[in-house]
Amino acid sequence: MHQSKTIQLLATRKQDLIVAKDILAREGLVALPTETVYGLAANGLSPKAILKVFAAKDRPANNPLILHTDTAEKALQLFDVSQFSPIVLSRFDRLAQKFWPGPLTIIAPKNGHIPLEATAGLSHVAVRIPNNDATNKILSMLDFPLVMPSANLSTRPSPTCAMHVLKTLDGRIDAVLDDGPSLVGIESTVVRIDKDFVEILRPGMIDQEQLEACLDESVKFSQKTSTPQCPGQSFLHYSPKVSKVALCSHQSIDKRWPTDDVIIATKNDFSQKETALGMRPKDSINIILSDEPALYAKGLYDALYLAENSPEKQLSILEPKDSHRFLAVIDRIARASSLKSNFFS
Ligand code: TXA
Ligand code: MG
Repeated sequence: MHQSKTIQLLATRKQDLIVAKDILAREGLVALPTETVYGLAANGLSPKAILKVFAAKDRPANNPLILHTDTAEKALQLFDVSQFSPIVLSRFDRLAQKFWPGPLTIIAPKNGHIPLEATAGLSHVAVRIPNNDATNKILSMLDFPLVMPSANLSTRPSPTCAMHVLKTLDGRIDAVLDDGPSLVGIESTVVRIDKDFVEILRPGMIDQEQLEACLDESVKFSQKTSTPQCPGQSFLHYSPKVSKVALCSHQSIDKRWPTDDVIIATKNDFSQKETALGMRPKDSINIILSDEPALYAKGLYDALYLAENSPEKQLSILEPKDSHRFLAVIDRIARASSLKSNFFS
């Protein structure tokens, strides 16, 4: 039962923000811009609206959603603060003050009024304050939080512009609010705050060092367990529709160099390989991304969608050399190539 047409709204038009707000108030689905990626928004307190999100995305029912709101006070009300020890509250305050609005998601015990549909039955809820003027304005007009998974069909790359959203969700959602390209380009860092520790469940552009500096304590990466701490991390993700996606080392790319593969590489890596191996064949396609991790992240999903213009080809992504600075980006590429990530199973 998909709608035939998805309305295209503009973030620069005040009346379009009202249209988006009204659709959300009527339990409809609107793809909204955020600084990380576009999110598929729905009333986070309405089981009916939440179930529509799962259906539109073809998302597995056991993968919980992040709730979004626009102030730290509202965010705190989504948690069961009676379960927060003073140290957990202090961890929350420090992280919220430093990184919100921004690309950080915080997981802690959920308040009773949050529907189990949002958390896929889990007792903990994930919460974020995004940093996008139009979306934050809409959040401020609503008296409920919004669930916002990335606005793509499940398994496909996350959208960083309205056109990406329409590629996989046109006709499946009521509207998309266009605000140009997302500035960060990959999804938020997800952390769980506990009385004993803070752990990273999904790496993002806010990194371990920044979290540790903010909290003045060490922050660990979540350990592999048979029950995933962050269920979404165990699913196939970010896969562009091409014949094959490979994450290539600096050795294994040599074999792909003379083929007609689409190659994604950083500017420096590409020119070093070209010096060593010569020009690539005429019918090959090269997508060059920045040597700077933040700019690479900003362009990554667009590069994956660009590769889909040659669906018959193989896509070879040259792993950026600096595995520390490119940690979050390499996590996404590894998943796109259906390799198991280093971090979570
Ligand atoms: O930047 C972002 O976080 C974007 C924008 C739109 O805000 N949203 C996003 O949502 O990436 P999604 O649904 O694509 O990814 C959410 C991740 C999933 O891996 C999910 O399993 C995990 O967060 N997650 C959500 N709630 C959780 C919970 N209660 N416990 C553990 N993991 C949770
Ligand atoms: Mg997603």
